[in-house]
Amino acid sequence: TEETLVLVKPDGVARGLTGAILARIEAKGYSLVDLRLVEPERGRLEQHYAEHEGKPFYEPLVEFMMSGPSVAIRLAGNRVIEGFRSLAGTTDPTTAAPGTIRGDFGRDWGVKVQQNLVHGSDSPESAARELEIWFG
Ligand code: GTP
Ligand code: MG
Repeated sequence: TEETLVLVKPDGVARGLTGAILARIEAKGYSLVDLRLVEPERGRLEQHYAEHEGKPFYEPLVEFMMSGPSVAIRLAGNRVIEGFRSLAGTTDPTTAAPGTIRGDFGRDWGVKVQQNLVHGSDSPESAARELEIWFG
């Protein structure tokens, strides 16, 4: 079985969507291994988003991620990395397919950062790296 890091980002927590998002994850059959409310400092976010350093949305993204608490989840299941990203939908919430978390709940607010509610690791290597950052 595989593990991934899921974050309910500050927009999801602030909008009270944590429960709705967890319900979809649980209904799909994935297992919650660990879960915590976190208010990350800049250093942790810079590590987490290292691959995006230098991109125009990087700094606004880091700021946004410090704007309120996130829920970090260690999630387990067969092919859960791919499976959660499928549940989440594509990055842009405006065009994410209906039926996905981003497609159903996300919206492009016209700000610099897409407030797309969730993060999910994109590969086994990313999952290992990110789980270490958020859960140690
Ligand atoms: P995550 O699961 O959050 O990693 O999403 P992703 O893998 O679909 O996207 P990616 O890793 O490419 O980008 C990480 C985050 O940066 C996204 O979730 C968005 O919040 C933001 N982001 C990515 N690309 C863009 C972009 O082109 N413009 C803006 N404004 N934000 C972006
Ligand atoms: Mg990503």
